[in-house]
Amino acid sequence: MADSNNATAPRLISLKLVLPFLLLTSLPVLLSLILTSWHSDFDPSPLPVSYGFRSKAAAAAEEHNSVLGVSERVGEGLRGPEDLAYDEKEGVLYTGCYDGWIRKVRVAAPARDGEVEDWVKVGGRPLGLALASDGSLVVAEAYRGLLKVNKDGEVNVLTDEAEGKKFKLTDGVDVSSKGIIYFTDASYKYSLDMHLLDSLEGRPYGRLLSFDPSSNQTTVLLRDLYFANGVSLSPDQQSLIFCETPLWRCRRYHIEGEKKGRVEEFIENLPGFPDNIRYDGDGHYLIGLPVGRTLFWDLLMKYPLLRKLKVALGMHVNFPSFKNSGLMRVNLEGKPEALYKDSELSLVTGGFKIGKHIYLGSLFQNYLLRIDITKLAAMP
Ligand SMILES: *[C@@H]1O[C@H](CO)[C@@H](O)[C@H](O)[C@H]1NC(C)=O
Repeated sequence: MADSNNATAPRLISLKLVLPFLLLTSLPVLLSLILTSWHSDFDPSPLPVSYGFRSKAAAAAEEHNSVLGVSERVGEGLRGPEDLAYDEKEGVLYTGCYDGWIRKVRVAAPARDGEVEDWVKVGGRPLGLALASDGSLVVAEAYRGLLKVNKDGEVNVLTDEAEGKKFKLTDGVDVSSKGIIYFTDASYKYSLDMHLLDSLEGRPYGRLLSFDPSSNQTTVLLRDLYFANGVSLSPDQQSLIFCETPLWRCRRYHIEGEKKGRVEEFIENLPGFPDNIRYDGDGHYLIGLPVGRTLFWDLLMKYPLLRKLKVALGMHVNFPSFKNSGLMRVNLEGKPEALYKDSELSLVTGGFKIGKHIYLGSLFQNYLLRIDITKLAAMP
């Protein structure tokens, strides 16, 4: 009889024994994991105070929260079309893919809409793209630097260093009407395959630069930027807007006029990490938000120790948080006007407007997303 009363006892005892045992054995494994990565070169820092922890994200009057429902896939066969440049005469979008190809996507001719053509393999990872007035394409290639691809597909490196520091992650680019190329090196410490470490370290290794093709002169315009990412000239060519990803913000740099050389606020507290920014030809800028802002990211960016732990424990902890991606439309003064997003969208890099359509680029998808903005007006 005593046997049946005590039937659960051995199991209880074994649980009591096993749990501490499990904890005791896993703790050293965890600790050694953390400690081995602790002494690495990765040295996270608190972000500057201007970074608003848990502050309310910039809100747009017009918010579309399920744009996947009104978007279509264009250009199947692309490989992570990151940035877009448009040749209006030819009716083609140029885009840089993760397999090193620059591809053309036909978008103007209805009969061949979405047709993809392999154009030039520049290698590496082409990120920012911009067309120069002579018809050549300027490419911010993450690993090699700033490239120029002429109409015949000939590739040349324009510049790959400034002030004795090599670019490690050439990222965004735009060309002014005078032919000056403005571009960013997101980091002189971490290359693209390590770019998350740069943002998580929270130190300013980024630079905003210009390249003058008439003199081959590379000039550092701003240094100590936090992951300097997308860059876009203002339509009046007086200033440019550039994004700093881990600080959820974009700022303005004056290239002409009374304020030449000065930096001003443009937009703070974006609802996601900003990537590319493009003038839309119609009085607005479009800012790609690859990763939506959540409590997870806010806490992480606030506490360097959490970032240290996260990197020590493995980067894959991210993935549930690589969502809620989208695109924000702001006016010329940086005031948010519209947000196009979807909880299922991931890693949207930027947007490009042609007529009534916005094309969304992406880090990993095999197509562009196209949204007919006239259809959005009817959405709740
Ligand atoms: C700039 O560099 C290109 C390519 O190396 C060269 O052909 C050109 O002559 C250079 N221009 C000047 C002004 O140095």
